Amino acid sequence: MKDANTLIEYGQTIDAQTMVTPPDATELELEPGHPGEGDEGYIRRRKELFALCRKHRLERLGPPMIAYTPEETRIWREVSPKLDELHIKHASQIYLKAKRELAITRDEIPQLKHLSDRVQRETNVHLVPAEGALPYRTFYEYIGERGFPVTQFIRHGSHPEFTPEPDMIHDCLGHVPPLMNRDYAELLTLVGKAVSTTANGYQVLALSGLRWFSIEFGLMEEAGETKVFGAGILSSTGEIPYSLHSPEVTRRPFVTDVVINTDYDPSRMQDNLFVAPSLPFLRRELEGLVRRFGIPVL
Ligand SMILES: [Fe+2]
Repeated sequence: MKDANTLIEYGQTIDAQTMVTPPDATELELEPGHPGEGDEGYIRRRKELFALCRKHRLERLGPPMIAYTPEETRIWREVSPKLDELHIKHASQIYLKAKRELAITRDEIPQLKHLSDRVQRETNVHLVPAEGALPYRTFYEYIGERGFPVTQFIRHGSHPEFTPEPDMIHDCLGHVPPLMNRDYAELLTLVGKAVSTTANGYQVLALSGLRWFSIEFGLMEEAGETKVFGAGILSSTGEIPYSLHSPEVTRRPFVTDVVINTDYDPSRMQDNLFVAPSLPFLRRELEGLVRRFGIPVL
């Protein structure tokens, strides 16, 4: 169990202060064992996109238009049709409706700029170009201002179905579509405001846990069926069937006090999932938690 004095994340004790004063990574770093390690061309491209997206983020220029390479397009064309077929069968209606409206295709990598304009018209949320995964507090500060950080690089071609970090396939095919839904946009904005307002590391971690088990790895009940809702599941061809059908996965009803005290390991397929009854339910639960924590954002 987490408590206010000992914070555990990914099985390790962490410093509560890093939750509220985030470090800033100014250069590209691939984690050890990354599939692109040792591939000079890939690293050069990643560094180029890192610098471009970081500049656009820090100078608030909006997403840059990117000329994607044939190799990047090849990876998109390999992964996105497989995901699309799984989405049609297993994704929540909230997601499927929005994906159609955004006209994300299997053939071309979408430009974030265009997606951002469309989402902004619908729910007043815009996309922020991100050079990579941002530290918690920085990430949530953007979200609280109705900006969703999105990467613009693509995973390494040697493992098209796997990425150790959020990439454009994860972000565009997982996170962006539901931003077209008003309840979802408000839920996310409130998480962002709450996390960037509190100075309490336990509360940051708890709110982040709520986000993890809903927006990132949530399942949802829909007309008597369990559907996939979380972006982390929706962007993985292996994880969609695993989450719904594997006997190794525990699927429990979404109970906020249980969810916020549950740790997880982001480096592997998730075997501990929660099923929410609806999006308005999640929104009410979040509002209740924010009130209970006494964070003055409602
Ligand atoms: Fe994500």
